[in-house]
Amino acid sequence: MEQIIVIFTIMIDIQHNHHLKELNSFGLDTRAAYYARPADMETLTNLLEHENNRQLPLLVLGEGSNILFRNDFDGLIIQPGMKGVELVEEGEEELVVRVGASENWDDWVRFATEQGWYGLENLSLIPGSVGSSPVQNIGAYGVELKERFDWLEAWDIQLKQLVRLDHTACQFGYRSSIFKGEAKGRYIITYVAFRLSRKPDLKLEYGNVKTELTKANGTTPMDLRNVIIAIRKSKLPDPAQYGNAGSFFKNPMVDRTIFNCIRVEYPKVPFYPRAGNQMKIPAAWLIEKSGWKGKRIGNVGTWPTQPLVIVNYGGATGQEIYDFSEKIMEDVERLFSVTLEREVNVI
Ligand code: FAD
Ligand code: EPU
Repeated sequence: MEQIIVIFTIMIDIQHNHHLKELNSFGLDTRAAYYARPADMETLTNLLEHENNRQLPLLVLGEGSNILFRNDFDGLIIQPGMKGVELVEEGEEELVVRVGASENWDDWVRFATEQGWYGLENLSLIPGSVGSSPVQNIGAYGVELKERFDWLEAWDIQLKQLVRLDHTACQFGYRSSIFKGEAKGRYIITYVAFRLSRKPDLKLEYGNVKTELTKANGTTPMDLRNVIIAIRKSKLPDPAQYGNAGSFFKNPMVDRTIFNCIRVEYPKVPFYPRAGNQMKIPAAWLIEKSGWKGKRIGNVGTWPTQPLVIVNYGGATGQEIYDFSEKIMEDVERLFSVTLEREVNVI
């Protein structure tokens, strides 16, 4: 059923009882009580003004590739529809490009690389939209969004005004930002601006990136992009085939005392030293050692070659996926005294 509401001659298309199966990468067959996709600021602000009277819970959705719906959403889902790529600052070595929230992330990375606007190649093929990219400061293969982020525009629901937030205001960290923390639910990101280089600056330090680029006789940013795509395709399940949201958990930081205890029993535990006497341990390793690699309960399982990814093998519910993740967390906690934190946004 569809409701068309006319306010001040602006048409707001609010859909009722909207199916979300195509709007979440777990492929969960859930629904939103109301759904709207405002394509410009005027429609967005009119929508919010109208919704203010109803006081419904709000959820901003990108492409749903980092979200787990445990139930139907009994509120209004807003999927920003702002499009466009605009060069807003041009220097000899650098440039700033403003991109609409609803542009697909990987289409944007491909376009930028083709234009000779460099710096995002390592983030190729990450699913999702541009508007969501600052929310968890997306990262892969040795690069994080924050390195190329300049500023963003967002609607501040609290102050009811359009704001521009710079790097500092966004408080980026590992898979985190103000949008996942203290300002959760406060902003609707509408545009993101990136500071990119005209000169190639290949980042090859992570894992087997350099080896694979050499094997492919690659030298250019586009070659690097293609190598990253090939590595990702070899490791991660394609959500179109097997519903998933990428890494379900973050890689945990543990303090040195706990790390030393783990190392007594497992001298080969992989680790990355971090500031403040902390060690980052791959969650995939902890999950594997807890016996969960490739394990399946009903229609939910961990991916056989990357147990950090939880997969909907078909017909699972959000609650089943959530319960499965709880069991993994319990075992990792019991065996290693390490608390895993979900990366995926649970609704
Ligand atoms: P959604 O899932 O729609 O939303 C994510 C969160 O952002 C939600 O809390 C939502 O409310 C909020 N949000 C969305 N849009 C807005 C907006 N405009 N304004 C305010 N809040 C908003 N992530 C990585 O960092 N690195 C990876 O390598 C990686 N690999 C992945 C591989 C696979 C196969 C999959 C399925 C996921 C992977 N992810 C990875 C996770 C995911 O791609 C990113 O988190 C991505 O940024 C999510 O984008 P989305 O548009 O789908 O966001
Ligand atoms: N490992 C195991 N067993 C496995 C697989 C991996 O023990 O079966 C261990 C190995 O020690 C390996 C380590 O885990 O060296 C790291 O594995 P990988 O390089 O695949 O990376 P990851 O830490 O599992 C992170 C991100 C990914 C990102 C890749 C590449 C997080 C939570 N995940 O995964 O991001 O693509 O690095 O940079 O930081 C996502 O956030 O959704 C995501 C997919």
